[in-house]
Amino acid sequence: MVVTGSIDKVREVIREARKKGKIVGFVPTMGALHEGHLSLIKAARRDSSFVVVSIFVNPVQFGLKEDYRSYPRNFKKDIELVKKEKIDLLFYPPAKAIYPDGFSTYISETCLSRALCGKSRTGHFIGVCTVVAKLFNIIEPDIAYFGQKDYQQARIIKKITKDLNFPTKIKVLPIVRERDGLAMSSRNIYLNSKEREVARCLYSAINLAKKLIKKGERNSRKVISKMEELMKSKKRVEIDYIEIVDADELNDLKRIGGRALIALAVYVGKTRLIDNIIVNVK
Ligand code: PAJ
Repeated sequence: MVVTGSIDKVREVIREARKKGKIVGFVPTMGALHEGHLSLIKAARRDSSFVVVSIFVNPVQFGLKEDYRSYPRNFKKDIELVKKEKIDLLFYPPAKAIYPDGFSTYISETCLSRALCGKSRTGHFIGVCTVVAKLFNIIEPDIAYFGQKDYQQARIIKKITKDLNFPTKIKVLPIVRERDGLAMSSRNIYLNSKEREVARCLYSAINLAKKLIKKGERNSRKVISKMEELMKSKKRVEIDYIEIVDADELNDLKRIGGRALIALAVYVGKTRLIDNIIVNVK
């Protein structure tokens, strides 16, 4: 496994791999790796012959009041984890390599980015799109892997890949959960034991929605109200949003039909957690 922070070195190693006819699979991450990340790496290992993982806590996608400084960083443990997965190249650039002095070009997707998390995290998706576009230009992957945990992010990446003609195929993999249903996230370590316990309510709310829809409820407002009720009964929980939108365009759905995304963002204490589910309704 090659470990490097140098863009030139990455290009050189990938050029060599390509000469040997390798298929390049790429998993971008911000590190503090967990089973969710590993599921993407395992998928890359299955369909590509050269697996690249990047670890870069991207300053540009964090808001001023967000947790860039305190975001968990654990390079030693991460390197052990990726070694076990037998990846070929770990790209671990310093911030200055990605954003040198004078950097002034940003990628902004202007439609899907306005929905859901875009409303409360101004500029977040500009940061995500910019770094992912840069990483795609550096690595030129055949396939890149994203998690459904960040459904809107994956949807936006698919859109910029199409709009900007990146020759990369985007694969989206299911949410990996803890035993009690909480979606795995690098941020879960912020939760104290009481918060960790109440954090299960995101998954409970999703299951409640699923049950109501299965029973025939099609009114989004009613489903959302029930989910809110469940959340409001919990201490230290503050809802950022609960929305039901169509899974492709992310527009609000008054009546649930077709491929619908039920997405929520919730503060548990000071930690912002997200979760979602897609339901297919005839
Ligand atoms: P990060 O939060 O580290 O996540 C990296 C990838 O892992 C993302 O595609 C994310 O959706 C996926 N992932 C996280 N938790 C998951 C889970 N429980 N199950 C399945 N997949 C999961 O997302 C980012 O980093 C950044 O925004 C990035 C794309 C790297 C750009 O900076």
